[in-house]
This record gives sequence, structure tokens and C-alpha cells, in this order.
Amino acid sequence: MSRASFPEGFHWGTATASYQIEGAWKEDGKGESIWDRFAHTEGKIRTGDTGDIACDSYHCFNDDIGMMREMNLNSYRFSISWPRILPEGTGTVNAKGIDYYHRLIDALLSADIRPLPTLYHWDLPQALEAAGGWPERDTAGRFADYADVCMRAFGDRVDHWMIFNEPTIFTVMGHLVGIHAPGRKNLDDFLRATHTVNIAQGEAFRAMRATRSDAKIGTAFNMTSCEPAGDSEADADAAERWHCFMNLWYLETALKGRYPDAFVNGTPFDKMGVREGDMDLVKVPLDFIGINLYTRTIVKHKPDDPWGLQAVPVGPMGGNDGPKTAFGWEVWPDALYDIIMRITRDYDTPVIEITENGCSYPDGPDSMNVIDDQPRIDFYRGYLAAVARSIEDGADVRGYHAWTLLDNFEWSEGFAQRFGLVWVDFEDPARSRTLKESGRWYGRVSAENGFEI
Ligand code: NOJ
Repeated sequence: MSRASFPEGFHWGTATASYQIEGAWKEDGKGESIWDRFAHTEGKIRTGDTGDIACDSYHCFNDDIGMMREMNLNSYRFSISWPRILPEGTGTVNAKGIDYYHRLIDALLSADIRPLPTLYHWDLPQALEAAGGWPERDTAGRFADYADVCMRAFGDRVDHWMIFNEPTIFTVMGHLVGIHAPGRKNLDDFLRATHTVNIAQGEAFRAMRATRSDAKIGTAFNMTSCEPAGDSEADADAAERWHCFMNLWYLETALKGRYPDAFVNGTPFDKMGVREGDMDLVKVPLDFIGINLYTRTIVKHKPDDPWGLQAVPVGPMGGNDGPKTAFGWEVWPDALYDIIMRITRDYDTPVIEITENGCSYPDGPDSMNVIDDQPRIDFYRGYLAAVARSIEDGADVRGYHAWTLLDNFEWSEGFAQRFGLVWVDFEDPARSRTLKESGRWYGRVSAENGFEI
């Protein structure tokens, strides 16, 4: 392959999330989210930063769209803040919150950019956390009500939707590991949360479909290719269990109505709160599969693992053969090719969108205000070539969204990790934005629908 080329009509975009970019955390009637509460709690964010202002996209979204136009993009994946729409998570709708997303969606459409909203990118209304949060089964019903409000408000102009962002990550990090909001560290809470989220995915899908039968609805799944650490059968089995848990826990349920075999001693249905008939609730024919992928995972068998997977990742993120990003994540483009092909094989060539892929580097402007971020260009070249190869080999990939448009609030890392194609000056009250060299390169790739390898 001498050229990485993409099919006609391919969607070129970037992805963002409400809490990471919007700011305006208590403006125009918005309610408190678990991330507002978490970031305001001392010691939770490494840098002490909060998303109170972030990139101020609540006020500057037209500047964001200007940047997308400069990059010739035709798709924008953003998320809707649940507490901006329903400040208490349920009950009265906040008209000003609805209005904000109306203005954003209309501005995108006038710029010929497809709006691709995600309903939940981790900012649960704090009032619902107080009522039990994701471990509480009722939260699934509240989520479906919220999904319905969104579809009724925006469904006349928005054709493509995503239900969840990275369900494995927010359930693990928020309920088991505790380094993300709401900061719980409890195996039982975590297990129950995973099942509520699966029910919520099913209920939301049905509620949205009932309002708009032709909408295309998917979820953005965190994925990683899972490679055994050694040659033993035990490591190979462990890698497969990790794949079932990390990649399929919310996908196999939706598409096949069953939990994949991730746990050595069987799925802990009782602890998860699974009731008779629930597998009918979690099963829904998602119209497309969103893949968020950053690196691969090397997995080792670990007999005494306390939560029953008996599989652990070796090293923080990936292996040690490829270069590392500033976050320490291994640059490994084959991971994206491998996972696209595996999902293509295992789920009968589904429609796939790459909903996130990107890297952090500590870039900054030189004296000419140029941000020369060659390592980011190299990263995207490698991963985009892997996507092109997967399409050539039969995968039905319809779009690619770089994470991310703007440097933004990287969760427990604060503003320390810069993932953007656009540099943001967080010292400047106006949060001025400057396109990085990688953004210029990405703009050429989207304009030419490919690049020379
Ligand atoms: C996954 C998440 O969806 C996003 O919010 C995060 O910033 C990126 N990965 C980078 O960690």
C-alpha cells in the first residue's frame, strides 16, 4: 500500500466531551455533576485543576467550529451534559441547556459538519449519585428518560447518536479503582454498576428508537488489542478474558444478549443484580460500533487476582516495544488494525466508526507561534494507515475522530496532558486557540481523503 486512502463520503472528525471543554459549570441553570463534585474535592486531580472554565466552549463554540472548518472536517463528536439538560437528573428540563445544544447543532449543520452527540461522557448529575448512582438499578430508567428528552429535542436534525462513552472505563475507574468520579472503590458497587449500565443502554436505545425509528444509534466502546505476555496457554486464556471484559462487556450484551465469559468462575450474576428477563432488556441491535482505541494491552495470567478475571495488564498502557506518548502509552498502530479486524470477524462486518484515537505530548508555541508537534503527526500517520489497511481488508469503517479537537481537561490529570490538534492557552482568560502543525496535516488528509505513506 503506497497510499492510505479512504472511501468516498468518509467522515473526518474530532471528538470532545462536555466536562472536558465546556466550562460554565453552574451557568444558565446547569446542575452539579459528579465531575464537578470530584474535581472540587481536594487531592482528586493531580494538578488541582477543575473543569469550571476548561476551554470555555460553552461560550466559544463558534471558535471551535472555525477550527474544524480550517481542518476541512465533516463530523464532530461532542457530548451532551445530562445536568445541563436535567439539573436534578430527572424532572424539570432546563430550557437554557436545551437551547445551548440547539445553537451548537445548528452552527455545525450550517458549517456542513455532521453533529454526532454522545449522551453520556461521564458527567452524571450529582443528585442521581446521591440517590445511589450507577450501582442503583433505577438509574437506568432515569437515563432512558433523559435519552428520550434529547431525542425529542434534537432528533429532527441529528441522525447519528452515541449512547455511552467508554462504559468499561467509567465503571472501573469510578467504582472500583476510584481515581475517577464518583471515586468509589468497591467491588460490589462496581459489579452492580456494570449491569445497570447495560440495562440503561438497552432502555435508552428503545426510547430513542420509539421517537425516531430511522436514527442511527451506537456506543463508543473503549477497546484495546489484548496480547498474551508469554507463550503459555494460561496467558493466552487470560488475554482472551481481558478482551471479553475490556472490549465486549457492553457489546456482546447488546448484540447477542449475553455476558461474555470474562470471569474464571463464571459471571457473578447475583452480585451484579441480574434478574430473570434482564438479558432481553440489555439486547439491542446497535446500528454501529464506535471504537475508541489508544494502545494495545499485554496480559498475564494472575491466579490470585481478587476480582476473578485472573488476568492483569502488564505495564501501565501497552508494552515496551514502541515509542511512548507523554502519558506513557505505547504507540502501537497494529492494535487498531487488529481490533477492527477482530470485531469485523466476530460480529459479521458491522458498521464501525473510530470514535476516538489520539495522543498527548507537551507541545507549545515557539517564538513565531508555531506549534511543531511532529510526534503527533507520526502517531496519526501510523494509526490512520492501519485504518486504511483494515478497510482494504474488508472492514466497514465509515469515519475517524481524532481525540481531540482542543487541549482540554484530562480527568484526574487536569490540564497536564495535551491531546489536542489545537493548542489552548489556559493562562489566557479568553482561552485563545492555535492550530498545531498536526491540525494542518490532518486538514490536508481530510481534504484529500488520504495521504501518501
Ligand atoms: C478516553 C476518553 O473518552 C476521553 O475522555 C479521554 O480524554 C481520552 N480517552 C484520553 O484519555
